[in-house]
Amino acid sequence: PKPNIDPTAVLIKAYACQRRTPLKHHNSFLTDALEILSQNAEYNDNEGRSVAFRRAASVLKALPYRVKNMEDLKSLPCLGDHSQRVIKEILEDGSSREVESTRQSDQFQAMKALTGIFGVGVRTADRWFREGLRSPDDLFRTGQQLNRAQQAGVQYYDDLQKPVTKAEADVISDIVEKAVRAVLPGAEIRLMGGFRRGKEVGHDVDFLITHPEEGKEEGLMPKITNWLEEQGLLLYQKTTRNSYLEKMDGPARAPNNMDRFERCFSIFKLQTGSERASVSGWRAVRVDLVVSPYSQFAFATLGWTGSKLFERELRRWAGQEKHMSLSSHALFDSKQNLYLRAKTEEEIFAYLGLEFIPPSERNA
Ligand code: GTP
Ligand code: MN
Ligand code: MN
Repeated sequence: PKPNIDPTAVLIKAYACQRRTPLKHHNSFLTDALEILSQNAEYNDNEGRSVAFRRAASVLKALPYRVKNMEDLKSLPCLGDHSQRVIKEILEDGSSREVESTRQSDQFQAMKALTGIFGVGVRTADRWFREGLRSPDDLFRTGQQLNRAQQAGVQYYDDLQKPVTKAEADVISDIVEKAVRAVLPGAEIRLMGGFRRGKEVGHDVDFLITHPEEGKEEGLMPKITNWLEEQGLLLYQKTTRNSYLEKMDGPARAPNNMDRFERCFSIFKLQTGSERASVSGWRAVRVDLVVSPYSQFAFATLGWTGSKLFERELRRWAGQEKHMSLSSHALFDSKQNLYLRAKTEEEIFAYLGLEFIPPSERNA
């Protein structure tokens, strides 16, 4: 679309949180391939390798042009030897043998199918793979011991494989709003995750809930889930309590990207319109609900908007470049030995010395 861009004149910064990454870009033919290798590394428990491929892919997403030859990549950060080899092969031959053989491999396909089950992580999927299992059907057939989440995951597998549309997310937003308004008037609800970044489909729908009067949000989640359950809208839910304490979770605590908000992993029973090809009249949809105290709302908003790589890069930037520690709860400045308060995402970017990147350009 933009033929006049001189690739050598485009400056791409090294951290994803310093760049604008739109949802739609010019290099999917390369990023899809690199992301297969990233995913495969994750399946093999090689996090460093996985992140390296993901960072390389992310740089290509930020380019305002389609890569045509290796010259176009000369001044770009984060492209390791391995990524460059893969890119070169795709540019020259149209595909990469390593990527294609990975994509076809028994292990990759089985791990994808098994980790695609709600409640199943890489470790469990790997154990099942070694035992010869390949698919949700195999689990059922061999009578594997499943926990409650995994049982729901297998039961609603087909529905949960289907992408959730923005239209469906909007219907769920209305339901969640109704539920929250019924149990806590004045609460605020925000659509998070991929949909906040402008995605048209997602694997789930994420919400962040707060109340302007600090403390009012305490114990809110069980009230919401009870209301939803009474209406017959929940197929599955697991709520975890808020366990965040500034003193304990501050800089002394080992870095961990899991936050400690009151949080609910759920599966909604969503009525589907009559025009939709659905025999049952409803489908299962994964929904994540998070409750945050008002004083942490800006941090929670930033932390739950994503993308996952963008979040990871924000934390890396904070630590390595600013001697700060960022979480979905707070920002701690190690040099000044104090917590930096913020009411908006803009303030947090400013503390971090970063240009503000709007959600729609955090698709790193
Ligand atoms: P799709 O759901 O596939 O559309 O993508 P998504 O970007 O919405 O991913 P997901 O729903 O998995 O996560 C949404 C955001 O919440 C991402 O930024 C994640 O990094 C973040 N997130 C997910 N789980 C946690 C968690 O336990 N703690 C924190 N702090 N963030 C999380
Ligand atoms: Mn999501
Ligand atoms: Mn989610």
